[in-house]
Amino acid sequence: MDTKQRSILITGGAGFIGSHVVRLFIKKYAQYHIVNLDKLTYAGNLENLKDIEKAPNYTFVKGDILDADLLNELFEKYNFHGVIHLAAESHVDRSISNPLAFVETNVLGTVTLLNVAKTHWKGKEEDKLFYHISTDEVYGTLGEEGLFTEETPYDPRSPYSSAKASSDHFVRAYHHTFGLPVVISNCSNNYGSHQFPEKLIPLFINNIKHNKPLPVYGDGKYTRDWLWVVDHAAAIDLIYHKGRLGETYNIGGRNEWKNIDLIHVLCDVMDEELGREQGSSRNLITYVTDRPGHDRRYAIDATKLENELGWKASVTFREGLRGTITWYLQNEEWLNNVTSGNYQDYYRKQYRSV
Ligand code: NAD
Ligand code: DAU
Repeated sequence: MDTKQRSILITGGAGFIGSHVVRLFIKKYAQYHIVNLDKLTYAGNLENLKDIEKAPNYTFVKGDILDADLLNELFEKYNFHGVIHLAAESHVDRSISNPLAFVETNVLGTVTLLNVAKTHWKGKEEDKLFYHISTDEVYGTLGEEGLFTEETPYDPRSPYSSAKASSDHFVRAYHHTFGLPVVISNCSNNYGSHQFPEKLIPLFINNIKHNKPLPVYGDGKYTRDWLWVVDHAAAIDLIYHKGRLGETYNIGGRNEWKNIDLIHVLCDVMDEELGREQGSSRNLITYVTDRPGHDRRYAIDATKLENELGWKASVTFREGLRGTITWYLQNEEWLNNVTSGNYQDYYRKQYRSV
């Protein structure tokens, strides 16, 4: 257990994964001061952090990672030991309708943050760490066989993954060119509480609850490797404290599912939880036009993280999924709040045909 006093900047801490990371660090490291910088876009939500918002070791700052003046002010004021950088535009479908927003936040925002860290940490690099959170989508797509390793060449295929890949390259470039102490992790699909219902699992939970069609893209046989967000946060904690500088760690649950198989399980557990006749939610499944450029399969080889840092997933997928469903059903107000207003416009545009 690390007992040093430290201040850490977490960006994007009001989002889905960021809020789990903030919560873990606030609770586990009372001696750390966590500064959460978040722009509060549609995906950022302070309700995600209600339980820890008054913690003495926590400060929230509303702001943009593109705002260099604000970043300079924060680095000066808090003398950060580290940055855990999660802020990003994160939804592939939105990157298809508005690629530039992804270049702005994911590329320019990351480079702005790198520049400020480089300037403030000059000559003090040995006690600093810039930890960049990335995605397995930078590796492109897999066929039926094989897994993404840390050596898999980058081959991003959506505007989202291209922007994330670009940000990863900049982080490595700042390490090699300027000696900035960095570490990167690339994770597979997360699921769990507090995820915005534009992503598959919470979207489908919400639709089943309201008896709305379940829009399955293409043939439904696309494969994703699902990881419980709490296990991702635990991996981030390990990598932040024990990861080797300049290294990349892949994070994944060894938990591949074809979308349609996962959707069937989701429907059946929802029927049980809602006391509906078994099979009734499956009737909501509606095949719709495919996502353009849809990557067929992602799957992570997490051997390096497991062997080097001793990480492993703590729950089975069925346990994690049931817990997730229960959370959304018990947190009706959270779900109602995030699905009112702009969400309705997004939904109408994205799912015109259903
Ligand atoms: P999210 O969309 O739920 O949250 C993103 C957060 O970043 C929001 O709180 C938002 O307000 C904030 N933000 C966006 N633009 C900002 C800006 N310009 N300045 C400051 N804050 C800004 O995303 P998530 O799913 O929690 O993903 C977090 C990170 O993890 C991202 O970098 C994403 O690429 C990566 N990742 C996500 C997954 C996944 O399955 N969700 C998997 C692997 C990697
Ligand atoms: O792999 C990690 C990535 O996982 C993260 O980097 C991204 O931030 C995160 O959004 C996620 O990307 P995906 O595109 O895989 O997640 P999404 O939940 O959007 O979709 C999962 C699968 O479900 C994908 O094959 C598309 C399909 N899908 C999705 C939606 C929203 C549908 O069939 N219908 C839908 O309505």
